[in-house]
Amino acid sequence: MATVITIASGKGGVGKSSLATNFALRLQKTSGRTLLVDSDLLMANSHILLNIKPEFDLIDVLQARCTLCEAIAHVDGGLSVLAGRTGASVAVDKVEDPLQDVLSQLRDLKDAFDFIVVDAPAGAGQDLINTLANSDRVVVVLLAQATSFVDAYSLIKNSYMERGITQYSVLVNMVNTEGQAKGVFENFRSTVKAFLPVNLTYAGHVEHCREIYASSIKCVSIVQMGGKREQIKNFDAILSQIQRAPHNALQLEHTPRT
Ligand SMILES: Nc1ncnc2c1ncn2[C@@H]1O[C@H](COP(=O)(O)OP(=O)(O)O)[C@@H](O)[C@H]1O
Ligand SMILES: [Mg+2]
Repeated sequence: MATVITIASGKGGVGKSSLATNFALRLQKTSGRTLLVDSDLLMANSHILLNIKPEFDLIDVLQARCTLCEAIAHVDGGLSVLAGRTGASVAVDKVEDPLQDVLSQLRDLKDAFDFIVVDAPAGAGQDLINTLANSDRVVVVLLAQATSFVDAYSLIKNSYMERGITQYSVLVNMVNTEGQAKGVFENFRSTVKAFLPVNLTYAGHVEHCREIYASSIKCVSIVQMGGKREQIKNFDAILSQIQRAPHNALQLEHTPRT
């Protein structure tokens, strides 16, 4: 049975796609069969970061042009990828929760993989919360910015209120030091704890690093580049922290808090 790890944030541009791609590559390399799902239907970019052009994508699955299995592409090293599509708003905005069917099919696929890493879209809408409710581990990516705090808080609040999701791992991205990351996390945790009965676990941090930025231009993930032992060690440590953190019982039914 696969563990579903979803990388979310509220705010866009915090590094979700970059982190999800690196995590998926590392899990495939070290831990077992891994599927990376790009559930960002409007601005998908995992396939761009991996420099692949899959024949089919999630929109094709939603429009019944192919099966979920047919849409799964494979990259060197064995990672499986279910890509989204860039600029697909016209195709999907007529459907209330376009991912619902795909999520239940993904649950059926769980036996085929050890890990499913979901690169979530920004926001705090129903489709995203539905995705989180179908995840064993929810990872919230936080920056040392007020807008990131506010948007991550909204995401956690909506996820708790709508689906009773109480367990979150928090990763602080684009900081300069571990001390800064822990300060950002503690600040965020005490704010959230003051208002919501949820549990936040510190998953680690990724420093602001020119090479990660450059990797999205070169379309080569940092864990695929040579000589990145420290960064790879850090990604692996974050992944074990995420897997050690308390996990959510799947909240498949809509159970809003009053
Ligand atoms: N730790 C980091 N250091 C430097 N740049 C980063 C880091 N993490 C992400 N980035 C860059 O930030 C930009 C946004 O990242 P992306 O993964 O697309 O964010 P999201 O998916 O949350 O919108 C990209 O150019 C990416 O390379
Ligand atoms: Mg993204």
